[in-house]
Amino acid sequence: MAEVSTRDGILRLFREHQDGYLSGEDICRELGVSRTAVWKQIRSLRDLGYRIEGVASQGYRLLEIPDRLLAEEIRQGLRTQRIGREVLSLKETGSTNSYLQDLAEKGAEEGLVVFADHQTGGRGRLGRSWASPEGVNLYLSVLLRPALSPMEVAQLTFVSAVAAAQALEDVCGVQPEVKWPNDLLLGGKKVAGLLNEMQAEVDQVHYLVLGIGVNLNMELEQFPPDLRYPATSVKLETGAVVNRTTYARSLLKALDRLYTQYLNQGAKPVLREWEKRCALIGQPVTVTGGTEARGVLVGIDEDGALLVENETGRQRVLSGDVRPQN
Ligand code: BTN
Repeated sequence: MAEVSTRDGILRLFREHQDGYLSGEDICRELGVSRTAVWKQIRSLRDLGYRIEGVASQGYRLLEIPDRLLAEEIRQGLRTQRIGREVLSLKETGSTNSYLQDLAEKGAEEGLVVFADHQTGGRGRLGRSWASPEGVNLYLSVLLRPALSPMEVAQLTFVSAVAAAQALEDVCGVQPEVKWPNDLLLGGKKVAGLLNEMQAEVDQVHYLVLGIGVNLNMELEQFPPDLRYPATSVKLETGAVVNRTTYARSLLKALDRLYTQYLNQGAKPVLREWEKRCALIGQPVTVTGGTEARGVLVGIDEDGALLVENETGRQRVLSGDVRPQN
C-alpha cells in the first residue's frame, strides 16, 4: 500500500510540473520517501507502460501515459468515502465479478473496485455472456458489504443504474434512458448492463458484487452477430471517443455519492432519480416472461418492483420484460 501511494504521489507531482523536469531529490522531499523508493516506483510505472524520461542533471519527465485503463490514473483526484478506497486494474481476466468474488471470499473490504481492460468470459444476466473486447469499454465490479437483508439488496441495482447514467450525462453529454430492471439505453439500444451477485444467508448479506459493463467506444463489428437485443456504444451514438479514465472516475464518484445517500436516507431518493430517467413511466406497457401484466406503468415501489395499474387495480411486477403497448 505504501508503494501504491508513492506511485500515485509521483504521478500527482508529474501532473503539477507538466512543463519541466522533476528532480529525484524534490520527489523524495515532497513525498517523504527514500531515493530507492522513488527509483523503484519509477521503474514500476515504466513497467505499466508510462514513458518517463530520466536526464542525469535534471531529473524525470513524464512523456506519455499508457493507453490502458489504469488504477493509477483512475485514483487521481478520486477522493471518495467508500467506493474506490482500493482500486485494481487488470489487463485481462475471465470476469471482474468472479475475480472480485474470490477476493471477497478472502476477506476484501467494502469499496474495493476491480476494472479489466478485457474480459475473456464476461457474464451477463440469465446466464448470457457479455461481449468484452479489449481497450474500448468499461468492465468493473464493486464490492459492498451492506448490513441489509437479501430483499433490500435489490434496491442497490438502482444505485448502479443511476450512477452509470449520471456519469454518462456528465462526461459524454448524453441522456440515457433506464430500462427495468438492469439496462441503460441510448437511442433505444442497450449501452450498459448491470449484474449484481451476492453471497447471503436468509436474513443477512455477506457481500454484494455490483458488476457494471458500459459500451463506450465499441465499434459495430465488435458486437457479437447473435445478439438477442439491439445494442450500441456511446461512440456509435455520438461519433466522439470517450476517455475511459474520465468516465471511470466520474462513475466511481457517482456510485460513492448515491451509495452514501442510500445508507443515510434509504432507497427513496435514488428510486426517484431512476424514475426520472425511465421513459415508460406514465405509458401503457405489457410485461411478459415473468409476471404477466398490462396497464400503465406508474413507477417502482420501495423494493424496486414495477407498479403497473389497470382497471382491475395495481399489480407489482418482480420479474419480466417490459415493453410499450402498441
Ligand atoms: C447484463 O445486462 O446482462 C449484465 C451485464 C453485466 C456485465 C458486467 S461487465 C463487468 C462485470 N463482469 C462480468 O462478468 N459482468 C459484469
